[in-house]
Amino acid sequence: MLTAYLAADGFIDQLAEELRRGGATESMRHGRLILCDGPPVAAAWAANIWHDCVELPVPSIGSAAQALRALQRNWAMYAPVHHRRAALIRERLPHVSAKPVVFPAAAPSAPLGSWTLLAPDRMLAAARCSSAFANGEVDFVEDRTGPPNRAYLKLWEALVHLGRWPRPGERCLDLGASPGGWTWALARLGADVIAVDKAPLAPPVAAMPRVAWRGESAFALAPESVGPIDWLLSDIVCYPARLLRLVERWRASGLVRSFVCTLKFQGATDHDTAAAFAAIPGARVLHLHHNKHELTFLLTG
Ligand SMILES: C[S@@+](CC[C@H](N)C(=O)[O-])C[C@H]1O[C@@H](n2cnc3c(N)ncnc32)[C@H](O)[C@@H]1O
Repeated sequence: MLTAYLAADGFIDQLAEELRRGGATESMRHGRLILCDGPPVAAAWAANIWHDCVELPVPSIGSAAQALRALQRNWAMYAPVHHRRAALIRERLPHVSAKPVVFPAAAPSAPLGSWTLLAPDRMLAAARCSSAFANGEVDFVEDRTGPPNRAYLKLWEALVHLGRWPRPGERCLDLGASPGGWTWALARLGADVIAVDKAPLAPPVAAMPRVAWRGESAFALAPESVGPIDWLLSDIVCYPARLLRLVERWRASGLVRSFVCTLKFQGATDHDTAAAFAAIPGARVLHLHHNKHELTFLLTG
């Protein structure tokens, strides 16, 4: 069995280390793709995981397209080399819409395979992949006037992956909220938002109905002083180990239904803490297309 992991752009070292720790055996690299013998292992730093890869001899462009069409309809190309030949193959495949997502929306449900040319006459293909998006890249129709920054895009992306988002009237606690991109996105969904940050919110966000700002440290906030909440969100700049202690405290309180938190790495990547987040029952830890040197922790109740 062959599994391929496409590293998030700029994070192949993190992915290779994570795979090594997970016990995967690397057999070769192809651009950002790491091929491993054996079944898949957890890989937060992978933008996409290609399951049950097959290697196909493709003597001609026509035969390559035919081989893929025989497997299924929808395919995404990954072409770090042999671009022209790969583009000619892609032209012969059914069109797959790459329209930007209009949030809120769930991820597409149609299976999307991935393929690449290892050599001009040798293809690697996987009909089943972990991401519903080509090479794990999610693009949105952006709002260029409402939010104070572009941080809302990683929250939108996390919620698309969950296939769920705060509903009108649900209570959200947004930790590390300033200047307010996430708060803006939550309030626009009709949720009630408690935004916690010593720094203030941008005035247009602070003025939104259903937004309340608390100018204090998220780490000093007692769960009982807030009460039951539907979503705890954190984009606080802090060491991941400190965030883990905060998440454990709120989980232990039993007051939170769902979590969306950014693990931010300063300097070296803290693989141990990332693994500790991933080990929480029901958790998902992902590198989103809109994450930098960060991972996103998701847990829904
Ligand atoms: C990356 S920014 C958050 C951006 C925000 N999510 C948005 O969409 O606009 C990180 C924030 O964490 C805040 N922060 C750092 N330490 C904090 C703490 N102890 N409690 C609350 N917020 C904190 C900083 O003030 C900063 O505003």
